[in-house]
Amino acid sequence: MAEQDIQHATRDELTALQLKRMRWSLGHAFDNVPFYKTAFDQAGVHPDDLKSLADLGRFPLTAKEDLRANYPFGMFAVPREKLVRIHASSGTTGKPTVVGYTQNDIDMWSDVVARSIHAAGGRSGDLVHVAYGYGLFTGGLGAHYGAERLGCTVIPMSGGSSEKQVQLIQDFKPRIIMVTPSYMLSLADTFEQMGIDPRSTSLEIGIHGAEPWTDEMRREIEAKFDIDAVDIYGLSEVIGPGVGQESIETKDGPHLWEDHFYPEIINPETGDVLEDGEEGELVFTSLTKEAFPVIRYRTRDLTRLLPGTAFNMRRMARIRGRSDDMMIIRGVNIFPTQIEDLICADVRLAPHYFCEVRREGRMDTLTVVTESVIGAADSDNQQAVAKDLTHHIKSLIGVSVTVDVRKPGGVPRSEGKAKRVYDLR
Ligand code: DLL
Repeated sequence: MAEQDIQHATRDELTALQLKRMRWSLGHAFDNVPFYKTAFDQAGVHPDDLKSLADLGRFPLTAKEDLRANYPFGMFAVPREKLVRIHASSGTTGKPTVVGYTQNDIDMWSDVVARSIHAAGGRSGDLVHVAYGYGLFTGGLGAHYGAERLGCTVIPMSGGSSEKQVQLIQDFKPRIIMVTPSYMLSLADTFEQMGIDPRSTSLEIGIHGAEPWTDEMRREIEAKFDIDAVDIYGLSEVIGPGVGQESIETKDGPHLWEDHFYPEIINPETGDVLEDGEEGELVFTSLTKEAFPVIRYRTRDLTRLLPGTAFNMRRMARIRGRSDDMMIIRGVNIFPTQIEDLICADVRLAPHYFCEVRREGRMDTLTVVTESVIGAADSDNQQAVAKDLTHHIKSLIGVSVTVDVRKPGGVPRSEGKAKRVYDLR
């Protein structure tokens, strides 16, 4: 089916394609990756047992630890010589997760990122400034190849060197920027420090992802830059950026490109498959990948599957958080995105923050560190703002925290993914 047709295929057509591809992918993993053969054998299933998509639930789940145990190349389904590229995601602990691509995989990835940029409003001929990091991280090169595939002119800036970023945006006049939402906000500060109104640039569209962000954060970015800001989702293990993309028309969460990546939502405790609409952990099975097939891979991202709107393929709700980032403070589960909502809703606070979890005696305590906007920073005012935020967190999330409101610039900025939680226990 041609690229344009698949995006508008009926559910029945899509289901037929998914079933055909899933059969292939299960067989490919079973035949070529010893880990999957052993896991399927232990679970008493064989690729031939897949008669309908629902049968996927009988196959074993795969976790990040399984990839680590097969570090570096043990999960590849083709000989190393067939790979044209390797990427890796640095975990917070231990060895990185290594992923590999054949030429066909790179082509498919370029196609889904091109599709994503198009859904975000990009068109052939646009100038695209890529400020995701280039290197082992999939963000920079993934965005780059997709933008080229769509027929755009790419500025491969990578992350960091904020003043240079501003200068190139001023001089080259890109229409689109691809960058993490937290670094986009940091760039807004740099524009202002350089005496340039960020609303005055040529930018019209921001394609932001690689970390959880909220609708409140979207409104901040859109207001500061006078652009449309849309959500791009992905993870290295599944391909990189471009597993899903939000449409600029509907701005209602990323559509998952489920002709290549089959999504399920599971209960993270029991592993049971949940109905669409229920919140749980997102799990993916790759349908077309050659070098690094993943079968029922647990993302640790918590979200819901929703019906398609701009496209027939299903959407995911914006990610509430990663299970790794969930803080449990005196029995209350808290995600940084919940704190972000409240910070962004207060006009006296800048949208920069992090959380520190400590243990004092037997008690876990949470400190939220954020900062004032310029002009609102005298110390009386900072205390009043801190008191208000403490109160809002207590009444809306249900936990007592300490709030530290720093002067403008007091929260360290990220040049890529922002680190939101420091666990000091
Ligand atoms: O972050 C790939 C990517 C690059 C996506 C650029 C979008 C843009 P990893 O480094 O493997 O890959 O991290 C993947 O980042 O499991 C989520 O927890 C988080 N993440 C990625 N996109 C979003 C998003 C890249 N739009 C992990 N919203 C994922 C929330 C996201 N979280």
